[in-house]
Amino acid sequence: MDLLKQKINSEGTVLSEHVLKVDSFINHQIDPALMVEIGKEFAKRFKDNQITKVLTIESSGIAPGLMAALELSVPVIFARKRKSLTLVNDVLTSTVHSFTKNETNEISVSSKFINSTDNVLIIDDFLANGQAALGLADLVQQAGANVAGIGIVIEKSFQQGRQLLNEKGYRVESLARIQSLENGKVTFSEEVGATL
Ligand code: G4P
Repeated sequence: MDLLKQKINSEGTVLSEHVLKVDSFINHQIDPALMVEIGKEFAKRFKDNQITKVLTIESSGIAPGLMAALELSVPVIFARKRKSLTLVNDVLTSTVHSFTKNETNEISVSSKFINSTDNVLIIDDFLANGQAALGLADLVQQAGANVAGIGIVIEKSFQQGRQLLNEKGYRVESLARIQSLENGKVTFSEEVGATL
């Protein structure tokens, strides 16, 4: 998705060989116009998949998840990482370990909002090691529903996530795929051949 790549090139900051900072348009300040386009692109890619729900995870997954759901005309549900006062009954939970942050979260959704007839599109902002996406897929499976696919805004292709999710048979659609963050520079996957 060219608009997203342009934004990453102009406003993204490479913090290390593993971490890209995009807090001026995705992770802290959010660019609504870009999010609308992100939603349209996800909807385009999954338009033939009879999606009935979008599932994402708080907090940075909510904006792209909401926009995708709006375009697909379905509800969006976000898994919670913190205990909610009102989420007490009929809760589905899974455990997600973040290697990036070295922390483990229990994520949860109410079983009220996903049932066995649902065909669920999972959306998240980053794909690194794939643990958040796997946790979300686990929640969908616990509900007896189907994972139609996984939509990612920024995939770091040099980490394990993509391979892991493909090995498990999930369709993954990433709007920007980053091959490397070496030498303080963002190299997108498609460009690798061109630079050799
Ligand atoms: P994984 O789910 O693919 O295994 O990823 P990982 O545990 O490594 O990521 C944990 C958190 O770090 C996630 O945010 C993820 O979005 C974020 N993250 C991973 N790599 C990057 C990166 O290169 N840049 C940025 N900006 N974030 C990254 P989170 O803890 O869920 O935070 P939030 O959604 O509340 O913002």
